[in-house]
Order: sequence, then C-alpha cells, then structure tokens
Amino acid sequence: MNKIKSIVIAGIAVTFGLASCDSGNLRRTPGHVYAPDMTYSRAYESYTSNPNFEDGLTSRNPIAGTVARGHQLPDHMVEGDTMGYKSYTINERFTADDVKEGGRLFNIYCGICHGTALDGNGPLYSSGKFAAMPANFKDGKYLHMPVGQMYAGIKFGKNMMGSYASQLDIKQRWMVIAYIKKVQSENGGDAFAYGVAETKADTTKAAAADGDKKLADNKK
Ligand code: HEC
Repeated sequence: MNKIKSIVIAGIAVTFGLASCDSGNLRRTPGHVYAPDMTYSRAYESYTSNPNFEDGLTSRNPIAGTVARGHQLPDHMVEGDTMGYKSYTINERFTADDVKEGGRLFNIYCGICHGTALDGNGPLYSSGKFAAMPANFKDGKYLHMPVGQMYAGIKFGKNMMGSYASQLDIKQRWMVIAYIKKVQSENGGDAFAYGVAETKADTTKAAAADGDKKLADNKK
C-alpha cells in the first residue's frame, strides 16, 4: 500500500514539475537577482521618459551658448545668405596631416559623386544612377570658388547634393576644403594658402624620446 502511495505522490510531483516548465509563458523577470542595482539600472536610460524635465525626455540638448569640449565655436553662417558665403573665410591653417585627413574624408563622403580625382565623375554619377552632374573641382567654374561657398555647400547642401553637416564636424569640413584647395592649386587653381609653413613638431613624441634617452644615460 505504501508503495502505491509513493508512486502516486511521485507521479503528481513529476506532473507539477513538468507543468512549471511551460515554455508558452515567457518569463521576463530573472526572479531573484544577486545585485539588483546592477540588474535594474537606477539611472535614467537615454531614450526613456523622465519626469524631472518639462519635456519628459531624458536625452538633453547642449545648453545654449556652450561648446562641447574638443569642438569648435559655431560658425554663425546664415542659410541663404549667398553674399555672406562668398566672403566667409577662416584664419585657421592646416598641417600636411590635416590635409591628408581631409583627403581621406573626401574619399569617404564625397568621392562617390565628385570622384576621387575631384573631376565630378565619381562612380555614382558615371554609372548613371545619380542624374545630377556633381561639381568638377578641376573645372574653371569651381577652380576659384571661395572657400566659404564650399563650406556652405557642405553645411547646407546644394540642389541635388544633401547636407553633410551631420557627418562632418566644423574642423573636418575645413580639412576637406583644404584638401580640395590643395588639389586645385596643383591643377591650375589659386596658390594653396591654407597650409602651415611646416608640419608642427610633435612635441609629445620628441619629449618622450628625450626622456628615454635620459633613462638610458642614467643606467650607464
Ligand atoms: C550624392 C552625390 C554628392 C555627394 C556625395 C557630394 N556631392 Fe557635392 N555636389 C553634388 C552635386 C550634384 C553638385 C552640383 C549642385 C548644383 O550646383 O546643382 C554638388 C556641388 C558641390 C559644390 C559646389 C557648391 C556650389 O555652391 O556650387 C561643392 C563645394 C561640393 N559639392 C562639395 C562636396 C563635398 C565637400 C562633399 C563631401 C562632403 C560632397 N560635395 C558630396 C553631388 C554630391
């Protein structure tokens, strides 16, 4: 009799055991957690609502009038002020490395249309997939184009060309323009006026090398 009883109890236990494995009922909570403040974030996640702000958003815009560390001052260029574009310029000058970086960015963002040879014949245009002829920077029409106008083209776009403001920050836009101007100067354009006379000495490397030498001397 006892044997039958225990078989029945074991049967019931197995039935309940299997029933608790019901996979149709997806569990979203981990049950007991070891470190709750790690499992459940106490900070507001970026894209969640937030009762502390009037607009209810956690992600905040930069405070008006401030500039994030490592970023440049705003350019104050006004969209549509085409006369303003033409006279807009910068005092900043670029090292050979900056110009090289400008070329790298140009090939990533602009070469597809303007061509890596800057002749307006990039693969998107030459394949017939993009109908509007991109500017040929080696052509007379663009050879002497003011840098401010180029900057406006990148920032606001021009007709069929979209804005590249979200892909390139202010410094990067000017590095790309410096690169275009450099290539233009070698192809009948104005003399290149945006470079520094010589590449700035890399003081960190020089200082490190100097330090290494002193260490070596001390060991002698
Ligand atoms: C999707 C193709 C496309 C890409 C990518 C593109 N452009 Fe253009 N761009 C054009 C076209 C088309 C024009 C001619 C617009 C017109 O005058 O109607 C143009 C014109 C220009 C002009 C002349 C603006 C003016 O005022 O006439 C500049 C400068 C320029 N592009 C720079 C750039 C730079 C720098 C990049 C990369 C950051 C770039 N473009 C990326 C298609 C493109």
